[in-house]
Amino acid sequence: MRRKIAAGNWKMNGLKASIVELKELITLTKGATCEIVICPPATLIEEMVHVAGDSGIVIGGQDCHWSESGAYTGEISAPMLADVGAKTVILGHSERRSLHHETSDYIRTKVEAAWRADLSAIICVGETEAQRDSGDTLQIIKDQLDGSIPDGATAANTIIAYEPVWAIGTGKIPTYSQIAEVHDFIRVQLVQTYATGEDIRILYGGSVKPSNAAEIFAISNVDGGLVGGASLNATDFAGIVTAAG
Ligand code: PGA
Repeated sequence: MRRKIAAGNWKMNGLKASIVELKELITLTKGATCEIVICPPATLIEEMVHVAGDSGIVIGGQDCHWSESGAYTGEISAPMLADVGAKTVILGHSERRSLHHETSDYIRTKVEAAWRADLSAIICVGETEAQRDSGDTLQIIKDQLDGSIPDGATAANTIIAYEPVWAIGTGKIPTYSQIAEVHDFIRVQLVQTYATGEDIRILYGGSVKPSNAAEIFAISNVDGGLVGGASLNATDFAGIVTAAG
């Protein structure tokens, strides 16, 4: 039985004043059975870890460098995230893949760095609209999974997020059968490749809202969601947490 996850990706949003949203979320989600993860900007991680306390809410990073330390101006390493109490990190988000030209090979080195620092990795994969229109979705997903996941992935150190690029921040979502097709496909790939592949959680991401979350989370092999916009507001995100159980 895979425990569902509601994970929020705040992206480049949030000042210290936004920590009030976490406080409210803690109150609104008391008793939730799903795992709750918030990945705020790096500047807020330490304080949010403190505020989350023993609420069970996990705080994570949105990216990390592949090296432990060194002359990489502006970068943050996995041990630095772990040092301030992060437990997980999003890697290979489509905004990193497109805006920062990150390849799957490069992302794999970051996942290895995360694991070395005892962080779990939320590894994102997803096709563009043009790739879907040309019928390449499953091949793209397979290539991204093969390239981005290092050997040694387990249910404890890896979570996959399927995020169709064209559904992120657009309000558009695939049909439920399109989501099921990709999630079932990812499950088969994971089971074929990793001993605990049946237990690795697969999140759906892209325009998840309180109003569509329950239906999305009920789809075959959807083990929760990675949520951008709707995670910024405690009431909206609490609605998504409730949908996840
Ligand atoms: P969205 O973003 O929920 O705002 O579509 C999802 C994501 O990028 O993880």
